[in-house]
Amino acid sequence: MEKMSCSFIYLQCIWVKYCLTLFLLKIEPMSLQSGDVHLRKFRADDADRITELANNEKIGRNLRDGFPYPYTRKDAEKFISHCLAMQVTTFFAIEYKGIYAGSISLSPCSDVYRKSAEIGYFIGEPFWNKGIATKAVNLITDFGFRELGLARIHTGVYEYNPASQRVLEKCGYVKEGVFRKSIFKMGKLWDEVRYAKVAE
Ligand SMILES: CC(C)(COP(=O)(O)OP(=O)(O)OC[C@H]1O[C@@H](n2cnc3c(N)ncnc32)[C@H](O)[C@@H]1OP(=O)(O)O)[C@@H](O)C(=O)NCCC(=O)NCCS
Repeated sequence: MEKMSCSFIYLQCIWVKYCLTLFLLKIEPMSLQSGDVHLRKFRADDADRITELANNEKIGRNLRDGFPYPYTRKDAEKFISHCLAMQVTTFFAIEYKGIYAGSISLSPCSDVYRKSAEIGYFIGEPFWNKGIATKAVNLITDFGFRELGLARIHTGVYEYNPASQRVLEKCGYVKEGVFRKSIFKMGKLWDEVRYAKVAE
């Protein structure tokens, strides 16, 4: 009898553990989809494809220097390790028709800015102008407001990047101002156009 109640308690403990795991998984959705565009977690086997698309000067020139050009496989591996170590996934691979096409992220801010996050993204050049970034930005913005409880999502676009400004405007982001000569890129100073969207 005592033996039986011990195994009953043991089974109950396993059940509680199982429910807790399901609860934790529930607050971290595994996928976000809009038509042909799907946001998913990164996988170790994305490294080659990321390297292939990210190693493009036309992409690097629009991003921070932390996203280098040339972009090597080692850069991709380091980036994937960082993503896999996240407790709550806010960096996603963008798939278009089942193929890796780019990356998108929310970087939550801290202290008094803890209800804000910065959005960042790139789409590989062969996939440009198919509406992929627009779908991905809409998906991650909804995810940020709905699942992460953010009040505001913002970013800065370099003055020479009208495509990204267009994407943000299509997704309801509002131009809030220009940080004059705040960017030093390619040996020159540039303005940064600041955009944000707030939760309704
Ligand atoms: C900016 C970027 C993400 C756009 O991705 P995308 O999937 O091609 O974007 P979409 O197809 O959803 O929308 C692009 C829009 O920009 C427009 N566009 C493209 N090139 C343009 C240009 N030179 N001038 C003005 N508008 C332009 C397109 O016509 C389209 O608008 P429309 O739907 O009204 O016609 C992609 O070019 C990229 O990754 N660039 C390098 C990295 C980068 O800039 N990241 C963002 C940093 S803030």
